[in-house]
Amino acid sequence: MAKDQTPVVRLQDYAPPAYLVDRVELDFRLDPQSTRVRSRLHVRPNPDGPGGDLVLDGEDLELTALELDGAPLAGTAYKLDKDRLTITTPPERAFVLDIGTTIDPSANTRLMGLYRSNGVYCTQCEAEGFRRITFFPDRPDVLAVYTVRIEARASDAPVLLSNGNPVGSGVVAGSDRHYAVWHDPHPKPSYLFALVGGDLGRVGDTFVTASGREVTLGIYVEKGKEDRCDYALEALKRSMRWDEDAFGREYDLDVFNIVAVSDFNMGAMENKGLNVFNDKYVLASPETATDTDYANIEAIIAHEYFHNWTGNRITCRDWFQLCLKEGLTVFRDQEFSADVRSRAVERIGDVRTLKAHQFVEDAGPLAHPVRPETYKEINNFYTATVYEKGAELIRMLKTLLGADGFRAGMDLYFDRHDGTAATIEDFIGCFAEATGRKLDDFMLWYHQAGTPEVTASGRYDTAARTYELTLEQTCPPTPGQPTKQPMPIPIAFALLGPDGDEITDLKTESPAVRDGLIELTGTRERIVFTDLPAKPVPSLLRGFSAPVKLTANLTDDDLLFAAAEDSDPYNRWQAVQSLATRILIAAQAAIADGRTPEIEPRFLRSLEHTVEADALDPSFRAQVLSLPSESDIAREIGRNVDPDAIHGADQWLRGLIGGELGACLTDVYRRFGSNLPYSPDAAGAGRRALRNTALGLIAGTGQAGIETAEQHYRNADNMTDRMAGLSALTRQGAPEADAALDDFFERYRTDPLVLDKWFSLQATMTGADTLDRVTALMRHPAFSLSNPNRVRALVGAFAAANPTQFNRADGAGYRLVADFTLEIDRSNPQVAARLLSAFRSWRVLEPVRRAAAEAALRRIAGHEGLSRDSADIVERSLD
Ligand code: ARG
Ligand code: ZN
Repeated sequence: MAKDQTPVVRLQDYAPPAYLVDRVELDFRLDPQSTRVRSRLHVRPNPDGPGGDLVLDGEDLELTALELDGAPLAGTAYKLDKDRLTITTPPERAFVLDIGTTIDPSANTRLMGLYRSNGVYCTQCEAEGFRRITFFPDRPDVLAVYTVRIEARASDAPVLLSNGNPVGSGVVAGSDRHYAVWHDPHPKPSYLFALVGGDLGRVGDTFVTASGREVTLGIYVEKGKEDRCDYALEALKRSMRWDEDAFGREYDLDVFNIVAVSDFNMGAMENKGLNVFNDKYVLASPETATDTDYANIEAIIAHEYFHNWTGNRITCRDWFQLCLKEGLTVFRDQEFSADVRSRAVERIGDVRTLKAHQFVEDAGPLAHPVRPETYKEINNFYTATVYEKGAELIRMLKTLLGADGFRAGMDLYFDRHDGTAATIEDFIGCFAEATGRKLDDFMLWYHQAGTPEVTASGRYDTAARTYELTLEQTCPPTPGQPTKQPMPIPIAFALLGPDGDEITDLKTESPAVRDGLIELTGTRERIVFTDLPAKPVPSLLRGFSAPVKLTANLTDDDLLFAAAEDSDPYNRWQAVQSLATRILIAAQAAIADGRTPEIEPRFLRSLEHTVEADALDPSFRAQVLSLPSESDIAREIGRNVDPDAIHGADQWLRGLIGGELGACLTDVYRRFGSNLPYSPDAAGAGRRALRNTALGLIAGTGQAGIETAEQHYRNADNMTDRMAGLSALTRQGAPEADAALDDFFERYRTDPLVLDKWFSLQATMTGADTLDRVTALMRHPAFSLSNPNRVRALVGAFAAANPTQFNRADGAGYRLVADFTLEIDRSNPQVAARLLSAFRSWRVLEPVRRAAAEAALRRIAGHEGLSRDSADIVERSLD
């Protein structure tokens, strides 16, 4: 295969920009096929820059005009290449550059730059989309003040939006056109530019900030969907208040607008004062959205809003620093959700996500440090490592420094770096300075990829009344990093006494221990606790205080004890998961050898005990009752994985729980039904989660169970219950499932976001006919190759969430995804590259599947005209 020739971008090559742009005036004449853009740049040489030519990025642009200080530039004074415009030896003083370009928004299927979504003009500029609008130094360390005039036919685009505050509008005399002018006083990088034009409905409100500034809030959606915005609007107001309370951060413009569009590559985008969202993270009604959808909407609205300070006011110097804004902002949105919902359940959910995505990424060929040092295509680095592990690093920082030290560091960061493009060193430097603690070793967390493995072994000496705890860390090799240094690992802990209580006033000489926390800094640490009258059970890594794989020498008895007694809810949940993992790993091995799996009966009793404990939050109990997923088990096994055996083990254990806990589950199912009208709040969602998890297990116990699920589906008065009933049926592969699927389609046939659920459910069915089903659905009239949500709902779900059928031993699952990806790569490389990351764990599979997956990857790699995005993923996957 021909090696991809794309140049590698390196952090070590960073140089400041040669020229700065202080002000930008943009003038858009919107037209579906031929939009004209005039750009006036107020440029000056950067006193700290290297000098030389002025290089402007540009991609898929037609250059129509080029003037310097009002005079057209001679052909010898500039050079136009495929991806840049170079002004050779410009004046050594400030000057004005006028650039005219023409673009075709309708032909923009990559959904980067200016494009049309369902007749709406919208933009996506992060990371490098602005260069598809006009020629510009499209890098985050060039900060400018933008004034934007947008003109369009009034009937096409009655709503015209951009960043900042509205400063003018009117009709264009003697025409059917109108215009709007927006001014954003806050200097920003080009990736935060946004423009929207279309015939949109609006839902509005106001918010008064802590210092009394009144902000006009607007959510713009497709007409007729206005009644699905209430929840997003309330979530926005909660977020604005929370950032004031938790971080002292106020909003800083007169307006804050959100626009929901139906074609969007990612979740949402934090453009200054004009967040653009994938509509699935804005629109919700009880009939169309599940409790999970509501929670996601709340989290993503918050995430994008929080970027206003962590991302926009302080942005990134270069794209290697992506985690500076993303890791920190994910941490902030997680904390927000923990505060407005249940902290324990939020943490359990976040750790599940981290392990399911980031741990898997870290264990495979796409592993990279939280701050990467090289990239070929930056869009491929919007990853679980940068986002989710990035958030864990912030959480560890807070654990290590304490809440006050953390806040002091954040305050200093906001104070010192406001209005600038910063680096991770700048950020960490603020915490070191504010707390007086050296954090050089902490930087290793940003440099070293891979999930550290911590082993803990405890030994109680009855005669000496001592408990000796030995902790060791190693970190496996990752691409380009064969050896690792030990990192500072905060291990929150307690020792539990025989009554289950935390033992207070622990005695130890070890300097690594301070209240409730062990700081493991070296490779190995031996801690001796003295004066203990009885053998304790250690509760380690409480709240999952560090993103590591912990192996402790705990017996089943210890885990059963923790499952019943641990006062840390996270570890209580983890204890049940650990037991279930042991059982499932043994079961899949048994199934693979044709033996009958065995159950530890006390596990079932423990589960029953928790499910019945009405003192516990129902949403927590639902988490306990949700077993590790098949992918979790595959990840824990880590080599020679047989997805069919794991699926067999899962079926077996679920069946056993459904049978043995039948009375308890039925009781929960009855008691947690509600006659109250649906409300998406956390309490109601928790009750439904528990009841619906019970239903899923009941449905696996025979015909009566199937009938319960069918009834549940039919009687549902909200989407959460409707989906729970339907997925219980499809999961069983019950003959009743097809009729229910047809019914579901008929009910929601005009609602694409709801049909995405229908596509996903079918894509994740485990029968051997699923491949044909998915192939047929690709031709379904409701499916669309050009809409990323549809693609992810069907093909994304099949590849990422159907372990047995994607990994079919005959390789047909891989071929299907490979063929489809090659097709979509021609129109939308970013979405194609995302799909391909489903292959990232191919090396852990058993040999037959491994060979089939490799063949599919090699075929993609050899494909003529493969995009840079996809080439980067397959090459790294095969390396
Ligand atoms: N900054 C956005 C966020 O809130 C994500 C944008 C990603 N865009 C991309 N083309 N990769 O997380
Ligand atoms: Zn973000």
